[in-house]
Amino acid sequence: MSTTLDTTTSDDLGVPAARRRSAELERSIRERPGGFRALTGDRPTGRLHLGHYFGTLQNRVRLQNLGVDMMVLVADYQVLTDRDVADRLAEHVEDLVLDYLAAGIDPDRATIFTHSAIPALNQLLLPFLSLVSVSELGRNPTVKDEIAHSSQSAVSGLMFTYPVHQAADILFCKASLVPVGQDQLPHLEVARTVARRFNNRYGTPSSPVFPEPEALLSAAPLLLGTDGGKMSKSRGNAIALAATADETARMIRGAKTDADRHITYDPVARPEVSSLVLLAALCLDRDPHEVAEEIGGRGAAALKAVVTDAINDYFAPIRARRAELAGDRAHIRGVLREGNERATAIADATLREVRAAMNSL
Ligand code: TRP
Repeated sequence: MSTTLDTTTSDDLGVPAARRRSAELERSIRERPGGFRALTGDRPTGRLHLGHYFGTLQNRVRLQNLGVDMMVLVADYQVLTDRDVADRLAEHVEDLVLDYLAAGIDPDRATIFTHSAIPALNQLLLPFLSLVSVSELGRNPTVKDEIAHSSQSAVSGLMFTYPVHQAADILFCKASLVPVGQDQLPHLEVARTVARRFNNRYGTPSSPVFPEPEALLSAAPLLLGTDGGKMSKSRGNAIALAATADETARMIRGAKTDADRHITYDPVARPEVSSLVLLAALCLDRDPHEVAEEIGGRGAAALKAVVTDAINDYFAPIRARRAELAGDRAHIRGVLREGNERATAIADATLREVRAAMNSL
């Protein structure tokens, strides 16, 4: 999923400007939700955790419920950039779809699909690659960061070109909105550049083929893992959406806190305690300062009890739905089949336009 950008500050990525624009977009969405198509996606790397839920899933469900046309991509080609997941890919894809459905993404209103099932989407990669220079690909800060953190000895060609493939993900359905975290802003710039260059080269000013998509930055809360580090499945510090109440209790019991007995909400000075407070506040839909104040001198044990109950209460219906759906593999496959059919129809129509604009015979 999203990576940290150790080497890049948020200003370099244009985050303040993207935040301002996102606030404007939120107002327009509220006025006319049906005027927007949003596309987002995830790499299928395993089960999603609470960081994903409060960072992106909840936001997608909100947009869907407002009436935005949601396209949700399982990025089963992009995931091959830097890891050997091929043997468990099918399982990861199904787990991801289960997490989506459990969290409230509704396949009657949203289109859930996989890269690998949409030939026309992938065909867009070729003309798009011709519009981007090798040095531009090499400068992408998110790609550079991923290469720096990759455990593989060689960098694959897909690693360099996946942002252009991601442009195809976004442009094939002419998405106007891309709800993402800030690490994805460089990729969105690639998509905007490809759209502009394609239109300049092959379109006419009065009828551009591609709209320029815009980032919708989600106000993702900073949730740390139970060891105080970045929440990540591979570090074993993340509570999965699908975790049981007992697993949740065990992980929270082992969570790192600090020596100050009085509980406060101070993310800078007390990151670990504050992350637990924030998690409780998100589940309870309350202000974190208030939650901390109520616990006050009762200390870390009381905090942990509050967080555990808050998570287990909030996620009980989501987990129950997930368990129910997990027993019905045929349903999951059916959801994907339908989503793939819908996405294929959209991609085929766009590819026809692209071929016409390029004068392909
Ligand atoms: N790059 C995204 C991630 O790693 C996943 C992704 C693939 C995506 N295609 C996308 C996100 C298109 C937004 C739009 O999490």
